[in-house]
Amino acid sequence: MWKGRFQQQTAALLQTYSESISYDWRLWPHDIEGSIAHSAALEKAGLLTPAERQSIVDGLLAIGGEIEKGTFVFRTELEDIHMNIEAELTRRIGDAGAKLHTARSRNDQVALDIRLYLRSECDALDGLLKALQSALVTLGSQNSDVVIPGYTHLQRAQPVYFAHHLLAYVEMLQRDRDRIADCRKRINVMPLGSGAIAGSTILLDRQLVADLLGFPALTRNSMDAVSDRDFAVELLSALALVAMHLSRLSEDVILWASSEFHFITLSDAFTTGSSLMPQKKNPDVAELTRGKTGRVYGNLMSLLTLMKGLPMTYNRDMQEDKEAIFDSVDTVKAALAVFAPMLVEAMVDAGSCAAAVSDPNLLATDLADYLVNRGLPFRKAHEVIGRAVARCAELGCGLDRLAVSEYQALSALFEDNVHSILEVQRSMQARRAVGAPSPGNVLGELERWTALLD
Ligand code: ARG
Repeated sequence: MWKGRFQQQTAALLQTYSESISYDWRLWPHDIEGSIAHSAALEKAGLLTPAERQSIVDGLLAIGGEIEKGTFVFRTELEDIHMNIEAELTRRIGDAGAKLHTARSRNDQVALDIRLYLRSECDALDGLLKALQSALVTLGSQNSDVVIPGYTHLQRAQPVYFAHHLLAYVEMLQRDRDRIADCRKRINVMPLGSGAIAGSTILLDRQLVADLLGFPALTRNSMDAVSDRDFAVELLSALALVAMHLSRLSEDVILWASSEFHFITLSDAFTTGSSLMPQKKNPDVAELTRGKTGRVYGNLMSLLTLMKGLPMTYNRDMQEDKEAIFDSVDTVKAALAVFAPMLVEAMVDAGSCAAAVSDPNLLATDLADYLVNRGLPFRKAHEVIGRAVARCAELGCGLDRLAVSEYQALSALFEDNVHSILEVQRSMQARRAVGAPSPGNVLGELERWTALLD
């Protein structure tokens, strides 16, 4: 491509060192789509005849067909996807192919390809996130009357509907979707026409290219357009948060599937066995997802670090952006895709959940509220119930077995009905504030999300 200025061949060592075709080949659909749009602008400017443009379009589509079939031969000495396609096109159609790179540089070309790629991945990610939300809502709806202990510090805290716990993740995933949609706006800007750094003396209709490719806006500074990857950093950051949410969900699934919790049983199809211990059924999907979060975080840090010291504008360092970008997108998509069916197939063990939630100490705060309703300041009520819990520990019983006389010895505000406070259903019914898990609220949220995701 640059043989004019050079007298020596590129060293074979350098060719292997600098190639990116082994991983950027997958940008081919976007590279071809971008070149077809660029050729329209070249024709409009009178730089290609209609016949030349037609042979470019036909040639590019033929090459695309072969890449898709797996019969196209990529050549390492042609470095990247851009030069592989252009060189083969020119080999096939001659001069018309040699005109395609007019007023274009690989610098604006690769910026365009990445934007096109990321734009379509944003849409794919949104679909997968939505499918996982639906799976969570389905699992919640199928078990809408199951109550489990909610935990803080992994210590039993207060009862919650299992569906309420799942809906917490639906909210997180919605914010992930919103973040990706917001980031998509900044991805969706057309950089072609920026050239290597300073546009071109040959004037092309950039708006035409943007219209053909469905971009609502043009980049406004050629230097920014070829050197900026902050839109990719943003997406990798959004994906790091998706991974964080999936990792926390993984941890819950792993705990719930343990013999100690036994809140859920995962289906055989989404668990693995042990090569040694015949009894094992392991939650590998969740463990792998928790583990893969590390590389998704790492990719974000790689890209940030890659960009931080680069002088304006394009620097070859930037070729190193691709593996991090591809890996985060692929990893998060794969995790989302496997999590949804795994959750839909999970069986909730209502008996274990009921046994866990029958722990009367989960309602200690309800007892403090009982005293507050009888006029005691909350801090004092907290202390009284703390004493009741300590007394229970002494007697080796739960708050539900502590005699009324014991309660009344701690506070005269206790009446004979004190034990009625320690009923889970009553407690759930009372939690009616917006966002709290009363049965009506949880059913309402399940319905709201079902409709929203429909
Ligand atoms: N493969 C290159 C990359 O991914 C394309 C741009 C190369 N530009 C250049 N001036 N060498 O960044």
